[in-house]
Amino acid sequence: MNKRFLGKIEVSDIGMGCMAFSHGYGQIPSEQYSIEAIRDAYNFGCTFFDTAEVYSPNLEGIGHNELIVGKALKDVRDKVVIATKLFLKSSEVVNGDVYSAIKKHLLGSMKRLQVKMVDLYYLHRISDVPTEEIAKAMGKLINEGLIRGWGLSQVDVDVISKAHKITPVSAVQNLYSIVERDCEEKVIPYCIENNIGFVPFSPIASGLLSGKITTSTEFEKYDDVRNWVPQLTKENISGNKPIVDLIQKLAKQKGATPAQISLAWMLKKYPTNLVPIPGSKNKGRILENLGASKVQLTDSELKEFENELNKLKVYGHRGLTH
Ligand SMILES: NC(=O)c1ccc[n+]([C@@H]2O[C@H](COP(=O)([O-])OP(=O)(O)OC[C@H]3O[C@@H](n4cnc5c(N)ncnc54)[C@H](OP(=O)(O)O)[C@@H]3O)[C@@H](O)[C@H]2O)c1
Repeated sequence: MNKRFLGKIEVSDIGMGCMAFSHGYGQIPSEQYSIEAIRDAYNFGCTFFDTAEVYSPNLEGIGHNELIVGKALKDVRDKVVIATKLFLKSSEVVNGDVYSAIKKHLLGSMKRLQVKMVDLYYLHRISDVPTEEIAKAMGKLINEGLIRGWGLSQVDVDVISKAHKITPVSAVQNLYSIVERDCEEKVIPYCIENNIGFVPFSPIASGLLSGKITTSTEFEKYDDVRNWVPQLTKENISGNKPIVDLIQKLAKQKGATPAQISLAWMLKKYPTNLVPIPGSKNKGRILENLGASKVQLTDSELKEFENELNKLKVYGHRGLTH
């Protein structure tokens, strides 16, 4: 696979979102299957793996996903970049000591991941703990060698710039896909200007852009985010059909799949600092998505696609609100 940089951290140009092995898309696969799927991705050339301490069935408990990622990657630890995330509530900060509160989370993640250092440590969401204090603490953890770089998730330029002034941010992980393009206005340009990696999550719009979801698709009842993703109500699946058709048209032309086109589109549009992390709990589809690294759109294909896309209304919007 091709390589890109998130700040100073080199990764494959498409990473692997590991969340669905534990949470978010209904029934989870067996641990053995999940471990094999992660190893298959590594053998395919993927060197960037995304998890979080909260990824556990129905978000109850801590670390289910980190344990799987740790087991899968322990033999190749030095050849991969592992990203994980923490939530921090102000009630956890004793005597203003943000550093110790973060370190407690980090040591838990390190143990579950079986690593001596986390490559990329994100704040999962900003809270009432001041961003500047978080940035200072992350700087200290970098100096101590416990993390290589740090990042923020679902943030705007105000937050990123405050943080970046104190401790340079390696990556911003925000929602971004063909149907969620808010970040094009300010966040991605800011990241490019400041050598900050941009890591789109849900880049296939939770499956919509694969073309496999129709108005008759039934989502699962338990722990399935697709029940609330705005573009996936029956009405909005219908409304967004022209966008999916447009992707399908380009996919046919390129001999690629629609999911691959959704990823190849953003890789072409931002050829330096953007690294998407599609998620799937299916071995075949994981490799299909990583295969988008080889799908090269030309300048004119991108231009024509964008011209058509900009004429179409997106139905449903989540943005950076949660
Ligand atoms: N920072 C944050 O707050 C945040 C939030 C959400 C997610 N994330 C991270 O981002 C990663 C990806 O996000 P995501 O999983 O929500 O979104 P996604 O990659 O846009 O979509 C995942 C959904 O799309 C389906 N899918 C994926 N590839 C497919 C393909 N080639 N053909 C057909 N269907 C396909 C999957 O089904 P199958 O499993 O059946 O293939 C799954 O239902 C997560 O794993 C997680 O690491 C971060």
